[in-house]
Order: sequence, then C-alpha cells, then structure tokens
Amino acid sequence: MSENAAGVAADSAAAAASGGDAPHLCIRGITKNFGAVQALRGVDLEARRGEVTGLVGDNGAGKSTLMKIIAGVERADAGRLLLDGAELAIHSSQAAAAAGIQTVFQDLALCENLDVTANLFLGGETTAGWRWLPRLLRPLRGMAMEQDARQAVTKLQVHTLTSVRAKVGLLSGGQRQAVAIARAIRAESTVVLLDEPTAALGVAQTAQVLDIVRSLRRNRHAVIYVSHNLRDVFSVCDRIAVLRHGAVAGVWQTRATGPDEIVAAMAHGDGGDDGDGAGDGACNGDGDGAGPANPANASPPIS
Ligand SMILES: Nc1ncnc2c1ncn2[C@@H]1O[C@H](COP(=O)(O)OP(=O)(O)OP(=O)(O)O)[C@@H](O)[C@H]1O
Ligand SMILES: [Mg+2]
Repeated sequence: MSENAAGVAADSAAAAASGGDAPHLCIRGITKNFGAVQALRGVDLEARRGEVTGLVGDNGAGKSTLMKIIAGVERADAGRLLLDGAELAIHSSQAAAAAGIQTVFQDLALCENLDVTANLFLGGETTAGWRWLPRLLRPLRGMAMEQDARQAVTKLQVHTLTSVRAKVGLLSGGQRQAVAIARAIRAESTVVLLDEPTAALGVAQTAQVLDIVRSLRRNRHAVIYVSHNLRDVFSVCDRIAVLRHGAVAGVWQTRATGPDEIVAAMAHGDGGDDGDGAGDGACNGDGDGAGPANPANASPPIS
C-alpha cells in the first residue's frame, strides 16, 4: 500500500505541476430513469486534466449508465455536461468524440480478425487524397496508418504490444485493452472514460493496464476510471468518487482516505471530504454557482 501511495503522490505532484487541478469535464445534476428504476439521481462530478478520477460503487449503482451518458450512448433525462465551462450537447457517440470524449467499454468492441493498426483506424481510415473517387473506393494509406498506430502505441508507452501488425484475435486481454485505449487516444481526445478496464485481467495484465492509465494522466487526459477493484483504484486514482443508488455519496482525495472509508460509503453512503469545492467556477458556464455534491472541501489541494 505504501508503494502505491508513493506512486500516487508522485503522479499527483506531476499532475499539480502541470495544472491538473482545474475542472475540465463537469457533470451537473445528471438524472436518468429506466422505467421505474432511478439509475441516476442528480449526479455532480468533475474530472480534471492530468488526473484520474475513480468511480466506484456497488453493482447497479449507476456507474456504467453515467459513462454511457457522457459517451453519448444514453440520453440523460435531466442535467448538464460542461467542458471547460462550455455547455455540451451530446446526443450521440459521434458528438462525444467530436468534443474530445472517448470511452473504452468493457467489451472493447475490437475486430478480432483485423490487426492492431486496422483496429485503431476502424471507421476513420486514412485514404489517398484522390477526391475524384468516392471515399470508399480510394486506396488506403497503409504505411501512414501504421506509422500513426506506432506513434499512438509509443505515446502510451505500451511495452506489451510489440507489433502493430499483430492480429487482435491473437492478443491477450491486457494487450487488447491497450489497443482499445490507444484507439481512444489516437483521436484528439482530452477525456477518456474507462469502464472496468481490468475486470477480466490477471495480475500482470492488470499492472500493464494501470501503467497505461498513468500514461494517460502524464499526457494530460482527464480520466474517469470505473472499477470494483479498490486496490487498483487506490493505486492509480487521484480522487475517488463513490456512487450509491444513483447519487454521489462523496468524493475523496485518494491520499486523504483509505479503503475502509470508501467501503463504508459504498455500503452506507456516509462520508466524503472532498467535494472538489475549489475551482468549481470554471464548471458553471453560466455562473449559476451550482455547487459540488459535497461543498465542504476539507482536504488540501493535491500537490
Ligand atoms: N438499458 C437499461 N434498461 C433498464 N435498466 C437499466 C438499463 N441500464 C441500466 N439499467 C439499470 O440501471 C441501474 C444502474 O445500472 P448500471 O449498469 O449503470 O450500474 P453499474 O454501477 O454500472 O453496475 P455494475 O457494477 O454491475 O456494472 C441498474 O438498476 C440497472 O439494472
Ligand atoms: Mg457497470
């Protein structure tokens, strides 16, 4: 645990040094019902660039629903999303991608029969600039795509992927997760949502994925990391938000809390010492003063 804590402290210091404490994505009052099921009840949350925000909660707490709403896969019944204070209208996954929001869902949605490069470019292939031909008939620029794929993999410092020509069907779970994350950051994204990225992975592969998440932080992405595994969450997250019955039970700075407190919040909903009160003005967009879930911010800023 002390090793993890030291790692988080070092990474957090780097985040603070790079200005990682200004809210980038702000989630305000998101509500979603599925028939009689209240999946989300006025969720407020922030994600900062250069930080990893953990999102934990019991089964059915609403974590995936919240990720899907930010990703444009589901529509919220009420609430707002703001990016650097500007209101976002996200009605589709394309709109989310255009706003710089990329999501890696648990099923990854990769094509097993294609290689790493083809998966990274799926639906956005680079073609020769022969404008007189319809786009679908233009030849693909294979070399350029491969080079771009190598760059994406290098940027993430993915040592586990040795060739961008390897067929995805032959890769391990951890390597596939790396491909999915590389695809998310190949696009011009600033927000990366990861829903249970290590759920199906063994110890070594989990460690690889956590290293990639740290790379995302170093590359100044705002990451929301959904997981059931508190060990992973404490190892990689700067803040931890607990979702309980569709509402935020609290947000803690990782270094100011421990697993017992988080588990208590997941079970009973008590606690929460970091409502991210500082710097919220950047979120409001219209200066309405809408506050965080827990306005009493007792914790010091991450340094
Ligand atoms: N498409 C849907 N139709 C109806 N109910 C849904 C739908 N999606 C989610 N729900 C319900 O909304 C609630 C929140 O589900 P969600 O999948 O967001 O939880 P979760 O926190 O991701 O859970 P888990 O940890 O099991 O992945 C649950 O009660 C679930 O049954
Ligand atoms: Mg889920």
